[in-house]
Amino acid sequence: MEKDIARIVVNEEQIRNKLQELSKTLIQDYKDKDCTIIAILNGSLVFLADLIRLIPFSIRLDTIDASTYGESTFPKGETRIIRNFKIDIEGRHVLVVDDIMDTGSTLKRVLEDIGQFNPRSLKSCILLNRLSRRRDGFRPEYCCFGIGDDFVVGYGLDYNNKYRNLPYIAVLKDECYRREGLKA
Ligand code: IMP
Ligand code: MG
Repeated sequence: MEKDIARIVVNEEQIRNKLQELSKTLIQDYKDKDCTIIAILNGSLVFLADLIRLIPFSIRLDTIDASTYGESTFPKGETRIIRNFKIDIEGRHVLVVDDIMDTGSTLKRVLEDIGQFNPRSLKSCILLNRLSRRRDGFRPEYCCFGIGDDFVVGYGLDYNNKYRNLPYIAVLKDECYRREGLKA
């Protein structure tokens, strides 16, 4: 995979440090609450796995499978919930975890869905924020890194379902997108 990397955007140490910082905030905010985390698959998997192991109290966990991009770097518009969560969240403090907020359509759609089940509180936590693509002022409560317009991979994020297992966040060389014939 390394030969395909043009540049690293966020390295392993930066991720580790930021997750420590984020976990301290979450511990403070949720220590007396019965926290339920709902993660959006597949992109949030690596972030989720590292983050929850920094939380010293018990949390409840479930996942949602949502898709907007399919096999390209350009959003296809409509966000589809492919598999919904099964856990009971009525009256619970719910934290939604996702990899990246781009246009915001995935997260907003998921928050709307979850909101209908009457959680006591509903907040969102994302690894990456691409603010330039936001048409409204929507901001998640917890966010690790702001990033630019380049499509990124690694630490859970994919291109064509590849590169999720890179331990850092990177931009691929142009020819990698071209090779796949799907560059936006
Ligand atoms: P949104 O609905 O436009 O906010 O898009 C969010 C979803 O698109 C994320 O959950 C990611 O799965 C995917 N996505 C957006 N930007 C990138 C990127 O740069 N790399 C990989 N996946 C991305
Ligand atoms: Mg996603």
